[in-house]
Amino acid sequence: MHKIKTQFEKDVIKGLTDYPKHLPSKYIYDERGDKLFQEIMAMPEYYLTDCEFEILSQKKSQICETFFDSDGFDLIELGAGDGKKTKILLKQLAEKKYDFKYLPVDISKSVLEELKSTLHIEIPEVKVELQQGTYFDILADLDKYRNRKKVILFLGSNIGNLLHENVIKFLKQIQENMQKNDILFMGFDQKKQPQTILDAYNDKTKITESFNKNLLRRINNDFEANFDLDEFIHWETYNPETGTALSFLVSKKDQNVKIEKLNLDVHFKAWESLHVEISQKYDDEVIRWIADKADLEIVDFFSDEKDNYRNYIFRSK
Ligand code: AVI
Repeated sequence: MHKIKTQFEKDVIKGLTDYPKHLPSKYIYDERGDKLFQEIMAMPEYYLTDCEFEILSQKKSQICETFFDSDGFDLIELGAGDGKKTKILLKQLAEKKYDFKYLPVDISKSVLEELKSTLHIEIPEVKVELQQGTYFDILADLDKYRNRKKVILFLGSNIGNLLHENVIKFLKQIQENMQKNDILFMGFDQKKQPQTILDAYNDKTKITESFNKNLLRRINNDFEANFDLDEFIHWETYNPETGTALSFLVSKKDQNVKIEKLNLDVHFKAWESLHVEISQKYDDEVIRWIADKADLEIVDFFSDEKDNYRNYIFRSK
């Protein structure tokens, strides 16, 4: 009898039998992957988190004014995580005594529970309603929130992990659920000195390397595979023309990997690549193009002092 395959199983089979080989970066994030990503965000080289923190801290009052509506609003955050950055805005909104409800969306129930309990201690006046699920489950549900203004938050330049085509599909899906008054507040990492970008994804402490290799570790654990992590190198590239940073794992030798549970043998030639992540960097033209394709219009944007990173406000056209 054939067992129905999970999406993860299908993606591993497809990605490792394609040429060139590739795997979706979303599978890096198991418990260990989440922890490594927390460590990445605390690294001095990973400027993205500090830049967004600076923008939210310094511009919180202008930003929160754009959220305000006299009938109140629902603040929906896609991929809320530990809410560290969002709390800057939540504190400001609470101080201003705005009438709003915070709806953090995350795939992880434990992350959401933790966020709720820290919020209860730090900003008890904020009304919180947890939304467990993928972005896509919640997007389908967004339509429920149409009684008052919606403010949708998507921070951390998470959008950069999607190809343009998928970014447009994703934004279009949001736009279709936005009413006239609703806004979308999103972080986009900007094109900059290429070395700064390479350093952010190629730290000397090798945290990013462990993060990317966590995908192989996860396949070993989940599917009884025998990837030898030491036989792959982490390789980062950045193309200043397209603004695309790519993360690869490159096989150091000719080798075979057995994935027992998937009944799959994978052969890597010496120096063959496995693409594991895209981290897109943007400029104004590209953001305008993407917004236009998704029927969104740019209302405003906020940037850090060095203009390394921007948070845009969009409205449906
Ligand atoms: C989650 N995402 C926005 C991160 C990024 O910058 O692409 C993931 C990451 N990968 C390596 N370092 C950080």
